[in-house]
Amino acid sequence: MSKAPIGIFDSGVGGTSILKEVHQLLPNENIIFLADSVNAPYGEKSKKEIIQLSDKNTKYLIQQQCKLIIVACNTATTNAIDFLRASYQIPFIGIEPAIKPAALQTQSKVVGVLATRGTITSELFSKTSSLFASNIKVIEQVGDGLVPLIEQNKIYTPEMSELLLKYITPMILANIDYLVLGCTHYPYLVPLLKELLPDHVKIIDSGEAVAKQTKKILQQENLLNSERVIHPEMQFYTNLNKALLQQFVSDIITPFKVSFLNF
Ligand code: DGL
Repeated sequence: MSKAPIGIFDSGVGGTSILKEVHQLLPNENIIFLADSVNAPYGEKSKKEIIQLSDKNTKYLIQQQCKLIIVACNTATTNAIDFLRASYQIPFIGIEPAIKPAALQTQSKVVGVLATRGTITSELFSKTSSLFASNIKVIEQVGDGLVPLIEQNKIYTPEMSELLLKYITPMILANIDYLVLGCTHYPYLVPLLKELLPDHVKIIDSGEAVAKQTKKILQQENLLNSERVIHPEMQFYTNLNKALLQQFVSDIITPFKVSFLNF
């Protein structure tokens, strides 16, 4: 079982930012990655729809004999992880906006969170936010339009810069010193955000924490692939744009295989 793959899914290519961290920390692990780009953005969908899509992705990964599933999507985690955990035996690792470390480290006591509508309006997000950030000010901003632009490979465009500027200006005016990226697509916007934010503002995400948690759970469950593997099996599936997923993965690992799949 320890040689079975880890399954990772996201609404699209953003989950590759999590894959990168997981592969770095756990280089022996075989991975199957699903990019459900046909249904992106999840962030604009109802909780019920997000649960249905997450369930569909999970069923496929379980059919492929995955030993653990990483829900590499804040929107799917905050809306569907309780359902998934209640429905399947397999361990799930989720991702949530990194409010806790930002709240612990902020000096200005003002923190910005950029996430999808689905994440920001979720019960889990408001619970986490009130648990860890009750004594600081949190400026929440819905990142409408960002995921669709990334999925269309329009990162370095005037349209993207304009949207980002609109979203972060109120945060800058409110004197944030931490910006929490609460969507796995957003780490690909860091070069742009660094140009737009004052130098002292730190940008954080939860990718590394997810990789560490994955390792911990694999160890606990005796599922870690401790055998040294030179080229682990890396299979990627997208139901939309093969070339786009290929482009996002090629910076992270080699060799790998991207296939089109109508899941
Ligand atoms: N990567 C997903 C997340 O972390 C994006 C959600 C979407 O498709 O809107 O929330």
